[in-house]
Amino acid sequence: MSKGSTPDRADFVVVANRLPVDLERLDDGTERWRHSPGGLVTALEPFLRARRGAWVGWPGVADIEVESFSDDGLQLHPVPLSADEFAEYYEGFSNATLWPLYHDVVVPPVYNRSWWNAYRRVNKRFAEAAAAVSAEGATVWVQDYQLQLVPAMLRELRPDLRIGFFLHIPFPPVELFMQLPWRTEIVRGLLGADLVGFHRPGGAQNFLWLARRLAGFEPSRGQVGVRSRPGVVQVGDRTVRVGAFPISIAAAGLDKLSRTKEIQQRVKMLRAELGNPKKIMLGVDRLDYTKGIDVRLHAMHELLAEGHIKAEDVTMIQIATPSRERVEHYKQMREDIEREVGRINGEFGRVGHPAVHYLHTSVDRKDLVTFYCAADVMVVTPVRDGMNLVCKEYVACRHDLGGALVLSEFAGAAAELTSAFLVNPHNLDGVKDALLAALDIDEAEGRRRMRALRRQVLTHDVDRWARSFLEALGAPLVE
Ligand code: ADP
Ligand code: F6P
Repeated sequence: MSKGSTPDRADFVVVANRLPVDLERLDDGTERWRHSPGGLVTALEPFLRARRGAWVGWPGVADIEVESFSDDGLQLHPVPLSADEFAEYYEGFSNATLWPLYHDVVVPPVYNRSWWNAYRRVNKRFAEAAAAVSAEGATVWVQDYQLQLVPAMLRELRPDLRIGFFLHIPFPPVELFMQLPWRTEIVRGLLGADLVGFHRPGGAQNFLWLARRLAGFEPSRGQVGVRSRPGVVQVGDRTVRVGAFPISIAAAGLDKLSRTKEIQQRVKMLRAELGNPKKIMLGVDRLDYTKGIDVRLHAMHELLAEGHIKAEDVTMIQIATPSRERVEHYKQMREDIEREVGRINGEFGRVGHPAVHYLHTSVDRKDLVTFYCAADVMVVTPVRDGMNLVCKEYVACRHDLGGALVLSEFAGAAAELTSAFLVNPHNLDGVKDALLAALDIDEAEGRRRMRALRRQVLTHDVDRWARSFLEALGAPLVE
């Protein structure tokens, strides 16, 4: 990473919980920057680098102060978090309250007043940092559930700014959102933006209903009234637009990389290292309980046990990036998954040939593309996911029209990728049938499906997503 001097105030600013790079402390006491995990960074980084904007975010380590610096033209402004704030704002309110609540209460959310206070305090710090680095009249794009109070706080500090907000995870049904003790504050926080964006129209509709129901201040008591109509909330004399903007990936870059000789060589080597199985199934996820890694393992186990597939013919690779490792449900899920992998391998593996290859790590871009190109069946089975970029990455890498995608109906991407084998992850028999169908797919049918999937992914890339959001925000599209 090339670092430059602290830059001037910027016309285009992204505010996200994490910077696109995380500071990593190594065992020998040295430090290095590495790519941050998750879909938000995957999507936004290429777009922002091309525009030389600024990015305000946490550097990934608690209790450190890092000066602003510039990285290849992108201005990075670190926001510090103390160890207590990391525990209460990030692990607590963001990932043990909001994350499960917004993902359909797949595990019970914890409501803790001290976490809420930390969330408010940290959101204020992000708003102040954004206010300090934004030029007069700048466009500020606030990201995701960790920062839902920032739009209103920032508007208060800097009414001259154009403020957008995008939620990268699902927005829940109103009955679930209404559980949140601080529901009104969150809705009012979001209404500080000029445009609030969601992946799916359903999320936008839920938010419009809640804005009308919860955010209405009493005009009779001298406060502003809130009204909503399709796509718009009127907050006093301010108009807040609300809409759906399905996010995507930088598809052309992956397509190009997947066509290189180097990747084709690596694919051959990988298959050989695995003992040239007839079929490879692949899962790539952050190790998160919403991703349904357990679902695909249970399906694989039953298919092997019932003799529908044989371990010498079908190998599964599961690559899982470590994530939120101190949060209780994440610890529990990791134990469950690793036990299931051990069980499958104990029952069906042979020396040197496990049925499931499980890697608890992040892999680099070339390795990731190699895995995608080698996989006959990509298995994406979240019980709930805002969009899911992994399935789009897989499709972007299959210029050969090979491979098949098994995709959960509960991923936002399912609305676009209708030529996948769509499954209900709660119906294990349905998942098993889809895996068998994808493993046995006839070549012509596979090519037909993959062609349709690629048409969608290559024409609806992240650049198109960002442009459509910024156009709706009325922001100048700086090249
Ligand atoms: P989320 O944002 O919930 O993590 P997404 O599917 O939207 O889920 O995005 C995940 C991103 O992280 C993708 O770009 C994917 O390639 C990347 N990723 C996930 N797991 C790994 C891994 N083990 N190694 C490298 N990258 C990974
Ligand atoms: O897309 C959801 C998301 O939570 C992003 O906000 C985040 O960058 C990514 O997943 C990874 O999560 P975390 O930052 O908690 O490691």
